[in-house]
Formats: sequence, C-alpha cells, structure tokens
Amino acid sequence: MRAVWISKHGGPEVLEVRETPDPVPGPGELKIRVKAAGLNFAEVTARQGLYPDAPKPPCVVGYEGAGVVEAVGPGVSAGRVGERVFYLTRFGGHADVVCVKEAQAVQMPEAMSFEEGAALPVNYLTAYHMLFEIYRLRPGAHVLVHMAAGGVGTAALQLCRTVPDVTVYGTASAHKHAYLREQGCTHPIDYRSRDYAQEVRRLVGERGVDLVLDALGGGDWKKGYRLLRPTGMLIAFGFANVSVGGRRRLLHLARQFVRVPVFTPLHLMNDNRAIAGVNMGHLWDELELLRRESEALVELYSAGHLRPQVTGRYPFSRAREAFAELEEGRNTGKVLLLPD
Ligand SMILES: NC(=O)c1ccc[n+]([C@@H]2O[C@H](COP(=O)([O-])OP(=O)(O)OC[C@H]3O[C@@H](n4cnc5c(N)ncnc54)[C@H](OP(=O)(O)O)[C@@H]3O)[C@@H](O)[C@H]2O)c1
Repeated sequence: MRAVWISKHGGPEVLEVRETPDPVPGPGELKIRVKAAGLNFAEVTARQGLYPDAPKPPCVVGYEGAGVVEAVGPGVSAGRVGERVFYLTRFGGHADVVCVKEAQAVQMPEAMSFEEGAALPVNYLTAYHMLFEIYRLRPGAHVLVHMAAGGVGTAALQLCRTVPDVTVYGTASAHKHAYLREQGCTHPIDYRSRDYAQEVRRLVGERGVDLVLDALGGGDWKKGYRLLRPTGMLIAFGFANVSVGGRRRLLHLARQFVRVPVFTPLHLMNDNRAIAGVNMGHLWDELELLRRESEALVELYSAGHLRPQVTGRYPFSRAREAFAELEEGRNTGKVLLLPD
C-alpha cells in the first residue's frame, strides 16, 4: 500500500509517500480500499509536533476517509465486501488501504460521493456532537462560530441551519464571507481587521450569545466567555492559536498558555454560565454514541440538509501542498488527499 508519512516533525517538506505491505484485517475488521482521505487541522499540528495525541514520527496520521470494503477479517459477514463506506480511523488514515473495526465504518447512501463521505466524519461529527449532544441547540439561539469557513466551521453553519431562527456569527477572513453566507452564516465577521468581540456585542446587544464554539484557545476563551448570556455555554474544542506560521515558537506557545483563563465552579455558578470541552479523539471507545451521531448525519444528508464542501483535492504525491493550504489558512471547507 502507499501512504503519506510524516518522516519527522517539521514543515511540509518532511512529508513522504512510502510503499509498505498491505495490512491484513484482524478479527472484527474491514479492509477498505480508500478512494479519498480527509485532512484535518489536527494533522497539520501533528506534523509540526504540536499535537500531543499524535504518534511519534515516522508515522502515518489521518482520522477518516471513504472507500470500498475489499476484504473482511474473522467474525465479519462476507456480505460487506463491495460496500461503500465512510469511516473513522485513529491514525493511519492517509493511506490507500486501511483496516478499521466494523463499527467504525458506516454505509454511505447511494447519492453520497466518496469525496463527500471522506469530508463528513471528523468535521460533521465534531460539530454535531457540540451542537446537539453537549449543547441542545434550540430555535432562536445566537451562536458564535470561530474558524467558520474551515471544515468544522462549515459543518457547524450547515447544522445550525437545521434549527429554525438560529442567528450565527462566524469569524473568518473577509474574502471568505460570501462562502460563509452561502453556508448559512447570518453575520460574517472579519476578525483580522476588527475586534470580533466588539462586533458581536454591537450586533447582539447586551443580551449576549447562547453558545460559543471556540477552537482558538488562549485569550479567546476569556473573550468568548464574556460574550455569553446567562445560561450560555462556551465549548472549547481546540487550541489553534498555538500554531503560527507552520513553526513551533516557544515564546508564542508560552504566551498562549499564560492567557488560558481559569474558571472555578463558583464563577460558573454565580455567572449562570457553562464551559464544556470536546475532544472527539478521546471518545474513541464510545462506539455506540459515535454510531448514533453518524446515523443522524446520514439522515440529515439524505434529507438534503448537509452538503460537505470539498474545496481542495490533492493526490498523495502532492500532500505537501494540501498541508500547506490548511496551514496557511487558505482553505474553505474540506481538503482531501486522493490516492494517486
Ligand atoms: N476537539 C475535537 O474533537 C476537534 C475535532 C476537529 C477539529 N478540531 C479543531 O477545530 C479547529 C478547526 O479545525 P478544521 O479542521 O475545521 O480547520 P480548518 O479547516 O483547517 O480551518 C481553519 C481555518 O480557521 C481560520 N483560523 C482562524 N484563526 C486561526 C488560527 N489561529 N490558526 C489557524 N487557523 C485559524 C483560518 O481561516 P481564516 O483565518 O482565513 O478565516 C483557517 O482556514 C482546529 O483547531 C482543530 O484542531 C477539534
């Protein structure tokens, strides 16, 4: 099989395509011929050496993809061979063959393309989990979505649209605002040229927002918390602020960690606000939960509510360009790696 390897921590130049023997499906596993694999911001930070959960290089990362079941391991019905599936895989996803547990693969509806399937699992499960499992998004809510033009951001905008009268404030570079509106954002905000917190406050008034989805981290968690109305919730689900210019900068890292606010239960009680954390990578053993959420997403897709937006497609041999697109913040929606 061929896979995109991170040979050591560093810039895009450390990525290499290598050939190794195909894996053999173990008990309860499916062997999948990959048609498209998803690239996520987490994998960019894994390459930079800033993602604590990632395996040590040399390694193959990648959390998701879509393809066709080519073989099954002991205990799995041979009837699954030939099935079109999207799947989660804990690393090893940037390869043209993967083996995953049967429960981690979901049959795709006929209308779903492999590219759409590969764009769905991480981004849409994360957004769905935050909006409907951790929070209970209700009609009339006001939601602030950071990194709104990215993969999770796009999924969050589309999912907010499934609930009536939700007002969404989305932060993104100005040239991505037309895209944001198409995906359902009510108020795109150019966080690069103005203070987004002041802008949200101006738009929403003293009422404040009900929900903040924040994968920026550091001082932004404090700003988001202050924007919440009583009963509001901030969900912390990433720390993108630690990644700058593709390089690890110790002083920058230290500054970001110093800015992380400390909240006590007393603060939260007296403010009537909530803070939640989400790391889908740590819900790995919650197969029932992930299956239920995946099925809900398939239903929403089939009803025409979700349309994964793939805006970057790169063969494995050009993986460095794919990583650079995400790293430099040029992407809108999803970037995929395609077997050559
Ligand atoms: N906890 C979980 O389970 C989980 C799951 C998935 C993703 N995440 C996290 O969610 C975040 C978004 O992931 P994604 O895959 O959707 O990202 P993505 O598609 O790469 O989108 C990132 C976009 O965010 C914007 N951005 C704003 N501030 C940024 C900053 N400080 N650093 C980098 N980008 C910044 C950039 O666009 P503009 O600046 O041009 O607007 C960039 O294009 C990441 O932090 C990721 O680690 C967490």
